[in-house]
Amino acid sequence: MAKAWGGRFNQDTDPRVEAFTESISFDRRLYEVDVRGSQAHATMLASVGLITQEERDQICSTLNEIKAEIKAGDFEFKAALEDIHMHIESALIARIGDTGRKLHTARSRNDQVSTDLRLYVRDAIDTLDELLLECQRSFVDRCDRDADVILPGYTHLQRAQPVKAAHYWLAYCEKFQRDRDRLADCRKRVNVSPLGAAALAGTSLPIDRDMTAKLLNFASVAGNSLDVSSDRDYLAEFVFCMSLISAHLSTWCEEWIIWFTTEFNFIQLPDAYTTGSSIMPQKRNPDVLELMRGKTARVMAAVPQVLILLKSLPMAYNRDLQEDKLALFDAFDTVKACLELTPAIVSGAELKREQITARLEDGFLDATALMEYLIKKGVPMRTGHGTVGQLVAKCEQTKSRLKDLSLAELQEACELIQQDVYEVLGTENAMKALQSYGSGGEKPVADRVAHWKSALKSST
Ligand code: ARG
Repeated sequence: MAKAWGGRFNQDTDPRVEAFTESISFDRRLYEVDVRGSQAHATMLASVGLITQEERDQICSTLNEIKAEIKAGDFEFKAALEDIHMHIESALIARIGDTGRKLHTARSRNDQVSTDLRLYVRDAIDTLDELLLECQRSFVDRCDRDADVILPGYTHLQRAQPVKAAHYWLAYCEKFQRDRDRLADCRKRVNVSPLGAAALAGTSLPIDRDMTAKLLNFASVAGNSLDVSSDRDYLAEFVFCMSLISAHLSTWCEEWIIWFTTEFNFIQLPDAYTTGSSIMPQKRNPDVLELMRGKTARVMAAVPQVLILLKSLPMAYNRDLQEDKLALFDAFDTVKACLELTPAIVSGAELKREQITARLEDGFLDATALMEYLIKKGVPMRTGHGTVGQLVAKCEQTKSRLKDLSLAELQEACELIQQDVYEVLGTENAMKALQSYGSGGEKPVADRVAHWKSALKSST
């Protein structure tokens, strides 16, 4: 098959080289953005007089036909045509001849692929933002449902201090909000038009780069053709953004996998999102959460993959860059699939109130509240820490709880302790005693629930 670049070649390409160099097997998904970019380019070419208005119209309508065929699965892809850009261009030429041959005027596949990728990533960012918002909503929606539940908070996975269950839900909201903010920031670097950089140096033809940028809704035009031809910084940033989303999801998965164990027994996962064992009839496994946790590996691996690809590449375009899409698409598909499943699992799960409450007084969740009580009575923090430590040790020996100690026993440890100590002892009291901004206590959590309800309402 004659190649678009075949003018100076005497030998046909070795079929193994065709198979080795093709990217159509993975970049065909760029067809929609490729057509969008080409239509903007053709419109600009007509406006500066490099093609006629009729030629522009014919190019644009034929590109629409090609797009529809690809979408419908009626388009033939072949390795000999390398990539999506060549496929679409050669289909255009096959249909409209010389007019089709004019589309690539003042353009190279180098600025074309960069334009396509930026358009694709911009859409991908918007998709992820929507999905993250849905995840946030699913957690906020749980807050009222679980308003009566107190959960142990952990450090080192050891019981630490009690918090409202909603405090956990809103913690994920915060994480996802940072993910959304990071994506929005990354979007600024994505949203710059490379179109018109041509191969690497720009062009002697009278193109209008502002016009194509505007037509494609880019916020600005890249100021250096060499730089932008080689620039994939925005991809490195985007995959990093996705890897943090994955990190957050994996924390949530891990937590709920643990909570779903018989040992913890905090949560019931919805049947539709758990699976059984082929040999052990009693099993219900949190496979979906485990796979989300596991898939984090490939999303995170995309970060070094892109960085290593970019390391030491000379300017401007190098074919190495074709590999960027593999990391990008795999990470994006994976994160998207995870985020699509998350809201249903979040809202379908039930906290096992009875089981949680039954063990809520275990683990001295009120020890810190008691220490802070002592501080309020004038005891130096370190002294109070030691005093409560001794009381905990005593309780461990007698298999009792701090709130079971008599006032006399407590006063033996510290004479400043009075009857009002029982207002902070016990898990519920200890939770209620938390009052600093952002803490897990009754009032601060209620304030943040109100904040998130209104923040998420207005962000659509
Ligand atoms: N398929 C190529 C890529 O993904 C398109 C650019 C090819 N440019 C070139 N000069 N061979 O990077």
